[in-house]
This record gives sequence, structure tokens and C-alpha cells, in this order.
Amino acid sequence: MLDRVGIVGVGHLAGYLVEGLARARPDLEVVLSPRNVDRSAQLATRYGASVAEDNQAVCDVADVVLVTTRPGDVEGVCRALGFRAGQTVVSTAAGVPLSVLAPAVAPAAAVRAMPLTCSAIGRSPTLLLPDDPVARDFFELLGTVHSVDDDAQFTPASAIGAYYGWIYALMDDVIAWCASAGVPETTARDLVLETTRGAAEMALHHSSRELSDLLDSLATPGGITRQGLQALERTGSLAAWIEALEALLPKLDGGALKGE
Ligand SMILES: NC(=O)c1ccc[n+]([C@@H]2O[C@H](COP(=O)([O-])OP(=O)(O)OC[C@H]3O[C@@H](n4cnc5c(N)ncnc54)[C@H](OP(=O)(O)O)[C@@H]3O)[C@@H](O)[C@H]2O)c1
Repeated sequence: MLDRVGIVGVGHLAGYLVEGLARARPDLEVVLSPRNVDRSAQLATRYGASVAEDNQAVCDVADVVLVTTRPGDVEGVCRALGFRAGQTVVSTAAGVPLSVLAPAVAPAAAVRAMPLTCSAIGRSPTLLLPDDPVARDFFELLGTVHSVDDDAQFTPASAIGAYYGWIYALMDDVIAWCASAGVPETTARDLVLETTRGAAEMALHHSSRELSDLLDSLATPGGITRQGLQALERTGSLAAWIEALEALLPKLDGGALKGE
């Protein structure tokens, strides 16, 4: 069983991961890199993590090391550290392929992951490459795990991490519209968030039904859903989401390392 997890790069994502780990496995020892002194100290106090003397001290004690620095820093940070065989090193960086990560962390096992901030509440669908059993057990503490076969699959699948953020933007606009039309703010918020959750849970529940079939069953001719859909299609609003995903691919396909 996993006893100690180390985190090198204590920024936004690390905070959510630490929160989720404290919820899921309060007995798990979490050791943080010291570079961001205030943030690490705050997480240590709030969630019972500890702060190491330096990055190497994090690696020395951890069974699994999460490297949660920005993409351009990952390879340099890893090459400066000594890892050991039997250890698992997970990079969460978008756009850093296994071919770059693996030699930088050898002889440890190299893994790519794309957890979401909802790791904090144990609901992250985390993308994983390869399907390393230690990394799988670890991320299942924070939600569900979906492994892919290679970097070519990881690239488009990791764009869904950005889609996760766009959903907030969409919901925020719809809440604001609803509130400006006179619906009490808290009602508008609950209605929009719970409707979004309801749609996702309905589709998950009916796993063998096409989403288009679920949509057809509620978008009756002459009804308001159909009318609104036609407006979204006419204005290219749905196509814009696909364009936005497509536009991420060069960066996710190694471009982040070239500063693109
Ligand atoms: N945010 C998300 O929701 C999310 C989700 C999935 C994946 N990711 C990926 O996860 C990584 C982290 O994202 P983030 O949003 O948490 O970024 P972030 O807030 O910028 O955190 C990165 C942290 O790494 C630190 N760092 C840089 N060099 C270091 C070193 N040599 N030793 C120790 N720490 C070092 C940075 O410190 P300084 O600020 O002092 O440079 C910073 O605190 C990125 O690669 C991103 O692509 C993020």
C-alpha cells in the first residue's frame, strides 16, 4: 500500500490534490517541495502535509512523486533529481510526452496524468498513460481513472481538461443571464449547476444510448429546446467549441515545450 506521496511544484493544481488526498486517505503522508514557502506551509497546516528541505528530499522519501510544475519546467526539474527503481514519477504537464519524461526520471517508472481540480472532492476523471497500477491506485483516491495507449491518444484526450474549464464559463454566463432576467441569484445558480449535473448523470446512467438520442427525446418539434438548438447551430456556437479544441492540439502535441 502507498505510504508516502511527494509533490514537486506546489501551485494551483497541487493544492487541489492535497485537499483531495486529505479527504480520501488522511493517513497518507504527503511531502511538499519548499519553493513556494507560504503555499506549502498553508497546505501543511490545513491538511497535515509536511514540507521537505528541498526537491531531492521529497523524492528520497516518496513512493510516488508528482511533478506538478509548469510544462516547460518538468524536464529540467526531473533531470536535476535522483529517482530510484521501483518509484513512480507522475507528470501532470500538458504537452510533455513520455519520450521526454521517461529518460528524465529513469530508473523510476514515468507516467503522464491529467487530473482535474475536482480531485479536491474526489470526482476527477483522471487521464493516465500508461496504465501503471501504482498511479492508477493513487488517482482512484481522487476519482475515476481512464488510461490511454499512447501519447497520440493522450494529446486530444488531455484537451478535455480545458473543456472542463470552459463549462464553468458557459454556466457562469447562463446563470448571469437568468439572474439579470429576474431569477434570484442563488436559484439561478442552483438551477444551472444541478441541470448540468442532471444531464451528465442521465447520460452516464444510460451508457449505451447515444447522446443525440437523449437529445432527440427532449427536443420535440416546435419546442423550446429545438428552437434554441437551431439558434446555436445558426450562429456557429456549437462548432466554436470544436474549433477551440482543435486549436489546442499543437500546444498539447509538444508545442508547450517549444513555448508555443
Ligand atoms: N491547474 C490545473 O487545473 C491543471 C490541471 C491538469 C494539469 N495541470 C498541469 O499541472 C501543472 C501545474 O499546473 P498549475 O496550474 O498548478 O501551475 P502553477 O500554479 O504555476 O504551479 C506550478 C508550480 O511549480 C513551481 N515550480 C517551478 N519550478 C520549480 C522547481 N524547480 N521546484 C519546485 N517547484 C517549482 C512553481 O513555482 P513558481 O511560481 O515560483 O515558479 C509553481 O508554484 C502544469 O504543468 C499544468 O499543465 C494543471
